[in-house]
Amino acid sequence: MAQVAITTKFFSEEIERLKRAGHDVCVHEGNPLGKEALIAFARDAEALIVALSDRIDEGVLQGLPRLRIVANLGVGVDNIDVAAATRKRVLVTNTPEVLTEATADLAWALLLAVARRIVEADNDLRREGFPGWTFIPKHLGLDVFGRTLGIVGFGRIGQAVARRARGFGMTILYYSRTRNPAAEKDLGARFSPLEELLRESDFVVLCVPLTPATRHLIGARELSLMKRDAVLVNVARGPVVDEEALVRALKEGWIWGAGLDVFEREPLVHPELLTLGNVVLTPHIGSATWATRRRMAALAVDNVLAALRGERPPTLVNPEAWPDPK
Ligand code: NAP
Ligand code: GLV
Repeated sequence: MAQVAITTKFFSEEIERLKRAGHDVCVHEGNPLGKEALIAFARDAEALIVALSDRIDEGVLQGLPRLRIVANLGVGVDNIDVAAATRKRVLVTNTPEVLTEATADLAWALLLAVARRIVEADNDLRREGFPGWTFIPKHLGLDVFGRTLGIVGFGRIGQAVARRARGFGMTILYYSRTRNPAAEKDLGARFSPLEELLRESDFVVLCVPLTPATRHLIGARELSLMKRDAVLVNVARGPVVDEEALVRALKEGWIWGAGLDVFEREPLVHPELLTLGNVVLTPHIGSATWATRRRMAALAVDNVLAALRGERPPTLVNPEAWPDPK
């Protein structure tokens, strides 16, 4: 029997599955735990299921001597020091694939909401009532159909965003670390250097992981290359965009608007973003549908159960830490 510590409110059927396998489960349901509290909470744990708001750095890993696996509830693992985990032979797993479609849907929801000023129009209607149909209303927006979409990071989510764009008759450009000729053919997408993509696209959707190479990939210079009526959508990670530069671009009209699901200093949101009418903001809910979150929970538990049986977890991020010698 091993102890499994879960740092966030979790689905009861998955807790039961861990218990049925003979494990002792403890769950922390309150606000995210700070470093010391996390170490105290999980001191005896051999498996840790963590939220994206948990920072699993070298210090936390040092404080958890029995730990064999960290199962992240998300596909991005920038909240975990994977190199330090690998040095300690702690397995790290994530939840790819199962959240791809939900996240692509949210990218599109943001894109359409900004282009058609849905949130602004809804707020105005609630506050001021419906003034009656007018030919040139306050909420004139942007066409989406037939325009150009630029996708930055053409992996699972980027390609799922592109699949949806076909129904909108869009020209699809993509920029990514690796060219993908098969996906280019399937989706009718064209590879484009980043600068060219930014100059040509009407909508730019960010789908890269956060790494040293992608931090501030979109800064003042990149924003200044975009069309004045372009929309930026970020469903990747906040620090991929220089938020200070983005605020300036939105205020000074370098671009039309932005749809943001992620922020540079989560859970803090740049206070000026909250005052701008040309942004739609969501609190990092890309994968937040009931069915997707259940699939993510099930996959995290599959990973934990495999590791505790001494088997290779299905979605292992650091194969260098395998086989687990503990
Ligand atoms: P993925 O399949 O690994 O796709 C990421 C793509 O980005 C890959 O094609 C990768 O290229 C490319 N890339 C990596 N570094 C790059 C760089 N420096 N420059 C250009 N392209 C680069 O991952 P995914 O499942 O699509 O998820 C992508 C990210 O979305 C996650 O890491 C996470 O941060 C974010 N996400 C957010 C939410 C949300 O709630 N908002 C939900 C899910 C995921 P290669 O093909 O060469 O690896
Ligand atoms: C969400 O942000 C994820 O990385 O899964």
